[in-house]
Amino acid sequence: MISPIKSIFNKNLTSISQLSNNDIFSIFELAKKIKDRKVQVNFENKKSIGLLFFQPSTRTRMSFEIAAKNIGLNTLLETNPEINSAMAKQETLHDILKTMSYYNDAIILRHPNENEVFDNIKNINVPIINAGWGNYEHPTQSLIDLYTFNNLFEQKKNNKIVKKDIAIVGDPNTRTSKSISELCSRFDFNISFIYPSIFKPEKFVNNFKKYKCDDSNEFKKISKKFDILYYSNFTGTEIDFDRNKIYDTYFLDYSFLNDNKIYVYSPLPRRPNEIDVKSDNTPHNLSFIGVKNSVFLRMALLKNIIV
Ligand code: CP
Repeated sequence: MISPIKSIFNKNLTSISQLSNNDIFSIFELAKKIKDRKVQVNFENKKSIGLLFFQPSTRTRMSFEIAAKNIGLNTLLETNPEINSAMAKQETLHDILKTMSYYNDAIILRHPNENEVFDNIKNINVPIINAGWGNYEHPTQSLIDLYTFNNLFEQKKNNKIVKKDIAIVGDPNTRTSKSISELCSRFDFNISFIYPSIFKPEKFVNNFKKYKCDDSNEFKKISKKFDILYYSNFTGTEIDFDRNKIYDTYFLDYSFLNDNKIYVYSPLPRRPNEIDVKSDNTPHNLSFIGVKNSVFLRMALLKNIIV
């Protein structure tokens, strides 16, 4: 019998800060048991999750959907709700969420504007899970990321992870940067940010070491200090910049990673020329291991959230 984690059981999951370190290790433990087929998780009484995606997604949408199906949950998916649902007839976000709460036992929501989300999730009587909200957070992604690093280094010793140096490379202000920096800093990772000077980091980045870098040789020199380079993508939605020039500066070919024993990880998606495709399927690129882990992790998470 699995006892669900109190901090998220039947509650909204908005931020990674809701989970204690012990909560996180119990989710990891369950995900590992599911992966190793040591436990069978199954909802037998016809529960359902709703997936409501206002922004494009491949991994989050598909892995939540397959994770839900693997544990016997039904799924109700709505993508592009402003075109496909009654929102095209001016239905509000609140009303679509409220309606979905009568058909589902939890709602997985991706949305471009976190303020709008927070204004509309009050009084919805099923848990709402943040699947990426504006530039706020992407908590379930950061769990997958840390789970992947944790498995790699086998660092779990008395619920403590051995210190590793990680650099978050790219746009420092993305929702994935926020969740992963908050999460990894709690587990004693040394965290730094490396970013092109065109990006202006938000205040939270002041808690970490910062490297502004616009030169590829300089980038290679800095990169060698780290165990993991976490490519948070060069999103920069609010600024105008030459993406190709930045990719030239930040591109790391496979031989550089191999020679310097550096791991690269991206929560994905990766744009063409962002990370060397030759590093895929080598021990140096962890990105697709994260994709594989995402299903087990989200199965474990759903088991802990749904009543
Ligand atoms: N990592 C991530 O959120 O990917 P998607 O945008 O494809 O869901």
